[in-house]
Amino acid sequence: MSASDSFDTVLVVDFGAQYAQLIARRVREAHVHSEIVPRSMPLAEMLARRPKGIIFSGGPASVHVVDAPVIDEAVYQAGVPILGICYGAQLVAQQLGGAVQRTGSGEYGRTTLTRGEGRSVLFEELPVEQVVWMSHGDAIVSAPDGFVVTASTPGAPVAALENTERAIYGVQFHPEVVHTERGQELLKRFLFDVCACRPTWTNTSIIEQAVDAVRAQVGSERVICGLSGGVDSAVAAALVHKAIGDQLTCVLVDTGMLRLHEAEQVEETFRRQFQVDLLHVKAGDRFLGALDDVIEPEQKRKIIGETFIRVFEEAARDLAEGGVDARFLVQGTLYPDIVESGGDDNATIKSHHNVGGLPEDMNFELVEPLSQLFKDEVRAVGEELGLPEEIVWRQPFPGPGLAVRIIGTITPERLEILRNADAIVIEEIRRAGLYREIWQSFAVLPAVRTVGVMGDSRTYEYPIIIRAVTSEDAMTADWARLPADVLERMASRIINEVPGVNRVAYDITSKPPGTIEWE
Ligand code: XMP
Repeated sequence: MSASDSFDTVLVVDFGAQYAQLIARRVREAHVHSEIVPRSMPLAEMLARRPKGIIFSGGPASVHVVDAPVIDEAVYQAGVPILGICYGAQLVAQQLGGAVQRTGSGEYGRTTLTRGEGRSVLFEELPVEQVVWMSHGDAIVSAPDGFVVTASTPGAPVAALENTERAIYGVQFHPEVVHTERGQELLKRFLFDVCACRPTWTNTSIIEQAVDAVRAQVGSERVICGLSGGVDSAVAAALVHKAIGDQLTCVLVDTGMLRLHEAEQVEETFRRQFQVDLLHVKAGDRFLGALDDVIEPEQKRKIIGETFIRVFEEAARDLAEGGVDARFLVQGTLYPDIVESGGDDNATIKSHHNVGGLPEDMNFELVEPLSQLFKDEVRAVGEELGLPEEIVWRQPFPGPGLAVRIIGTITPERLEILRNADAIVIEEIRRAGLYREIWQSFAVLPAVRTVGVMGDSRTYEYPIIIRAVTSEDAMTADWARLPADVLERMASRIINEVPGVNRVAYDITSKPPGTIEWE
């Protein structure tokens, strides 16, 4: 039996939604495998994956605009249950002969939903009234023939519709967001009562499926994996190692932009934990040379992304067997990295070094076993794989490292200042017992100097900014309410112990409007 026989799959068709991944994630939380597919995928290809159900995501478009995304209408005859969410529900209504109109006001945010009188498969056992999360301008105003309207809200006369005979369902609200209080129950009714899925998808299945996929992708070829010491690349490496054993060589690149003693610690942990071939490349001078006088953040990211690839290419050449270089590169790319880099129709916020920052003329084929997952899911997989706590619960650290925390030019002297200040921030966060509950805590070095007075003399030195945030998945974040005494200890230690710094500030910006990193 192959791993894929032991679980059922539900496809999430992405119509450009902010929430497509969240839908997939909620399905996984119900222990059903889900896969996101682009709306451009031919129907035959979707059906070849033998889905037990298909969910249409929401999307920013109106069904009325000229190039509004649609789906092959044959999907409605395929005999696979369908659930349309938001735009997906409007699409179902429109394609099957109902009516969707711009109502004028729209509904955004919390709304009270009222169930209709009749029976409803999705709402069975749910209360007559419930709070749901809405985000729509258009509304379905009449359901297609054969459909029953099962719920409404003040701004959506058809907030839910169903045709049980054909197993086609639609909801105008977002069951996948936490603000829709009974949303997960509704999704479960679709998955289990309508699609008859088995709840057999677990972290073990994620691992088994990733192992199968990696084997199928790389065959017997040699593979290298960039290791940063962060949880993502560590979990990706462990998964690939499980799949292909000694075909894998891990490459730890010391970019010179790492934190104090980081390269040594990561190497030590990895050698202790894995019987894996590990190459430690000291490339600090090379990265620093490439970044000489570079100020613009996106340019920094692109240079770093490219330099990483060149280092990996050289490693691949050194590992060549019988004249054949390693052709595959494993990266611990997560779903949020892709979103922020402008993948999947989203706007580019910043080019993550391992996504938008990659050079076009790269020789590698990428292996990205975690690209559909969120950080907390990756941590769970890491625990399941037996990775030690110091790796699984390490705070995230960006691939470009301290380069995106030094505003302006990067020099060895400025790196030294930031590295020492950063070490104090982390030390004090650990000492206060806050390391795990804080998503990330670090120091930033801006490109200005400020006047101060120390020992009766004037100083003119750099300030250090402390940044500490709480977050679920790095897509949004809030500044951490650190205790004043912790902040005070950090500030006085940084000023006393780090030459070149005479002032400390705390960043109290959430994301949005800020981002977690300064660049
Ligand atoms: P921002 O700054 O966009 O960061 O709020 C979101 C999360 O991503 C990390 N980050 C990166 N990780 N390569 C990475 O591997 C990158 O280029 C990169 N840029 C930001 C950041 O530390 C935070 O956890």
